[in-house]
Amino acid sequence: MAEAAAAAPGGPLLVPDEKDLRRRTSAKWRCHPTDVLPLWVAEADVPTPEPVARALREAIDRGDLGYPADHLGYARALDAFSRERWGVPVPEERTFPVGDVMQGVTELIGLLTPPDGTVVISPPLYPPIAELARHRGRRLVEAPLDPAGRMDPEALERAFRSAPGSVYVLCNPHNPTGTVPRPDELDTLAGLAERYGVRVVADEIHGPIVPPGARFTPWLSRPGAGRGFSVLSASKSWNLPGVKAALIVAGPEAERDLASLPEALGHAASHLGVLAHTVALRECGEWLDGFLAGVAANRRLLTRLVDLLLPGVEVLEAEGTYLAWLDCRQLWPGEPDPAARFLERGRVALSPGPEFGTGGEGRVRINLACSPALLAEAVRRMAAAVD
Ligand SMILES: Cc1ncc(COP(=O)(O)O)c(C=O)c1O
Repeated sequence: MAEAAAAAPGGPLLVPDEKDLRRRTSAKWRCHPTDVLPLWVAEADVPTPEPVARALREAIDRGDLGYPADHLGYARALDAFSRERWGVPVPEERTFPVGDVMQGVTELIGLLTPPDGTVVISPPLYPPIAELARHRGRRLVEAPLDPAGRMDPEALERAFRSAPGSVYVLCNPHNPTGTVPRPDELDTLAGLAERYGVRVVADEIHGPIVPPGARFTPWLSRPGAGRGFSVLSASKSWNLPGVKAALIVAGPEAERDLASLPEALGHAASHLGVLAHTVALRECGEWLDGFLAGVAANRRLLTRLVDLLLPGVEVLEAEGTYLAWLDCRQLWPGEPDPAARFLERGRVALSPGPEFGTGGEGRVRINLACSPALLAEAVRRMAAAVD
């Protein structure tokens, strides 16, 4: 089965049986007791694409567990992938390897802001971004998303005006809402960033996870984004976070900033990670298409099942990521953390909305990268928690 794509294009997501999934030792499957169905952390239940598994096995058989010689193969694979999928080149001289996307984002915050500087974010947002910015001593200013989960130009302008010279961390596509910024929205952001001297760092780890029908627009492809950065990785799209690697990509006017990063930072990218990510980007495009089709089918299934079984819960309309954002405020008015109730009463683990900051209360995030059967069982358990 691993030889096949994660799903036949248009078909359901093909994943191992739950019994086999429960043999996995990663966070998704080990942080809750065995009677809990885990649809929380952003890991996918898919099998490892066979070319990646083969490359990893062969490296281990060679005892090839040293340091990566360089990251250029990874950068060239990303360039080829990005040209083919998005029509956007990734010049290798503007890339820099890092251990993972969050290391890249954090180092860029450190590089682009003074120690008492400011980072602007748009919550609800993937929690480590705020956590790590705060850990670096940076002040956080919020420009919350609008009710549709999209960037709010007025909130952005207010935030930028209050913090000229800050960094804005763009999450493109956005975690947890799954929304995919349109080119015009990115252009509005670019205009505001230019006006207030804000540097944009785009976390684009979910970039490849946008099924047909919508389109991912790389930040650096927009006019006016040249002083910014993107941080990308194959880890989310091919489920490889266990083999760490990512790439910082600098805009054309940010090349000198990139050159000031110490070379030793790049040592955090693991040799197996660089190897696995390179093979995924080069050889596993069809596999990814199958995965995207399966996720899109699951998003439709979730919406249908929630309509049917969970009156008072609203699934936010979204096109990207394998995450969905559910508003449970009508179901349990005044309850800040519906995930706690779903866990306690339904034995299904979702990501608690409040962890994502402003706009997270009364919401939960659910992970769609599982079999349709498992997703249906999760909704059934959620409904049972209501009864
Ligand atoms: C938006 C976003 N950024 C970063 C990460 C983490 O990536 P990494 O493990 O490469 O730091 C995730 C993981 O879910 C994510 O959703």
